[in-house]
Amino acid sequence: MSIAKSTVPRSIIPKSTIAEIDQLRDELELHNYQYHVLDAPQITDQAYDRMFRRLQDLEQEFPQLVSPDSPTQRVGSAPASHFEPVVHEVAMLSLANAFDDNEMLDFDRKLRERLEQDDDLVYCAEPKLDGLAVSLLYEAGELVRAATRGDGRSGENITANVRTIKSIPLSLRGDAVPRRIEVRGEVYMEIEALAKLNRAQLKAGAKVFANPRNAAAGSLRLLDSRITASRPLTFCCYGIGQSDGVDLPPSQYEQMLYLRDIGFPTSRLMEQPGSIGDCVEYYQRIMAMREQLAFDIDGVVFKLDEVALQREAGFVSRAPRWAIAYKFPAQEVMTRLLDVDFQVGRTGALTPVARLEPVAVGGVMVSNATLHNMDEIERKDVRIGDVVILRRAGDVIPEVVAPVLQQRVGELELPKMPSNCPVCGSEVLQQSGQTAYRCVGGLFCAAQRKEAIKHYASRKALDIEGLGDKLVEQLIEQGLIDSVADLYGLTLEQLSELDRMAEKSAQNLLDALDKSRATTLARFIYALGIREVGEATAEALAQYFADITPLFDVDVETLQRVEDVGPVVADNIRHFFDQRENRDIVERLMQQGVNWPQSDASGQQEQTLIGNTYVISGSLEGMSRDQAASLLKARGARVSGSVSAKTTALIAGESPGSKLAKAEALGVAIIDQAGFDRLLADSAPGGRNDI
Ligand code: IVH
Repeated sequence: MSIAKSTVPRSIIPKSTIAEIDQLRDELELHNYQYHVLDAPQITDQAYDRMFRRLQDLEQEFPQLVSPDSPTQRVGSAPASHFEPVVHEVAMLSLANAFDDNEMLDFDRKLRERLEQDDDLVYCAEPKLDGLAVSLLYEAGELVRAATRGDGRSGENITANVRTIKSIPLSLRGDAVPRRIEVRGEVYMEIEALAKLNRAQLKAGAKVFANPRNAAAGSLRLLDSRITASRPLTFCCYGIGQSDGVDLPPSQYEQMLYLRDIGFPTSRLMEQPGSIGDCVEYYQRIMAMREQLAFDIDGVVFKLDEVALQREAGFVSRAPRWAIAYKFPAQEVMTRLLDVDFQVGRTGALTPVARLEPVAVGGVMVSNATLHNMDEIERKDVRIGDVVILRRAGDVIPEVVAPVLQQRVGELELPKMPSNCPVCGSEVLQQSGQTAYRCVGGLFCAAQRKEAIKHYASRKALDIEGLGDKLVEQLIEQGLIDSVADLYGLTLEQLSELDRMAEKSAQNLLDALDKSRATTLARFIYALGIREVGEATAEALAQYFADITPLFDVDVETLQRVEDVGPVVADNIRHFFDQRENRDIVERLMQQGVNWPQSDASGQQEQTLIGNTYVISGSLEGMSRDQAASLLKARGARVSGSVSAKTTALIAGESPGSKLAKAEALGVAIIDQAGFDRLLADSAPGGRNDI
């Protein structure tokens, strides 16, 4: 690569500097290519950044050596007042669509008829990216102009913005660059990058983008290219508009490989199906991996592979006869928001649920969708009566993405949080600093009871097979159960009388209930459904306390010694057990035979203190001596009432009394409060025990 001609005599610039700049640029270009085109970076990001900064420093010192194709020149420039129009020399066409296999077969049949081909046609296949089409013009190997598609005949000159996209080469690779070549492709944003951008936008009080297409379009149509430079845009090419001074390969597939060689990112998923049957198979395969891809696609594009045949087939109105987009079922559609209801969850949180005009999205009919919470509603400005964008991707719950403001007519109202629970009528409160509004009804609220029971029976909790959501609802409605403690009192007779419940399945449920009695402490704690106590926290609590009863009256300080338990979770646990009904339920469950192997808890609790004997004296912070003793025992230690020569250590709290003097006299180790905390932490599973 050569350096731009400077106005200052080169003689004052050391030759070695010129050489270094040249070399840095070549190397940075190579690493760019390896990273963006080959997906095979050869150096770390840090090493790249170091080289980049070195080049920036040199260019700052010798500004006359800055050239427009230097890798440093992707930072954007001063804002433009408008975009110049660009007339496309070769029109940028759109694509015909197919929505099912039959339409694909029709497309292929017509094409074969027109071309008088009996044999299978070969296609070039790749995903249809969801972004914005751009045209990139290179002259003598340098990017000279970039334009949007516009209406296909003319678009806008967005060169300054496009220059900031790192995966678009500013100059072409190789020795034999064409005199002129126009490359076309899609500018888009990867899903993660978009999410990150949206988080930043939100923080800055700026608008968020509903999808990658909007984000790409919004970022490319900014007059200030310095802002575009900060947007994580990516490029993938899919064709050649025109060329001059180069012999292009005769097939679409090979042309794409050629583009890749001269520096353009092409699709990793490009293939060359040998028949329309293979195309349909390709479509199925790409659709199955859709959710795993880092970027959004809305279908696959098939192009007749042989360029000579493409010419023969020609065009119809605005689209080529030789190409087709086989679309996936839409993941985003528009529908009307009829109303907003509030659903009460297990912890009393009220979630706004959108009631929608039923519509097919992602292949299924949808009439309800989540609106997450009130903050989201306000931020998105979703109002009852709005036409909204509804999204359902893969297995995720359908969500309302945004209102379509252009279609809003008249004054519409924002949904309001009710002041009373729609299920039990209790007050609805928002705790300070929290987004969620909650029904204060607790287990008085039928909705919360129902959710608590569903949770108790769920797979990761007590895993009661056959006790699904519908059945729980029926049992509650029939007045057969009120809390989880009632489950074990259900009889065959009661169950058999339920709707759609044969005696056989009633018996199966009783068997499943019986089986669920034998569980683990961790599952049991998790099953209680204490707010923010998930599986991992339940496991940590089980290991620390080795039994359920210590949790009844443990204080929040002690709770926070458990891994992952912070002040909020500690408060939640304390609050849960402070409620008499909850302790009653736990006790009733145990009376009804819910049990866990004692050895299970203490077995998982690696018995790191086996062989040690402790004596506890004085008062400890945040726990009684009994509690301290059970924690030590859970770790395999013995706890004795008096100090002897065999005592491993005396645990001395506040005012330890005569035992301290005795321990000192016998030379027994003395552990203070801090040491005791450390001992417990280190002897918890995974911890060290160096005492
Ligand atoms: S080929 C004559 N290939 O889809 C062929 N287009 O509806 C013209 N698109 O404006 C386009 N991925 O923005 C082609 N792999 C792909 C594509 C693709 C996305 C977009 C492109 C075009 C629109 C056509």
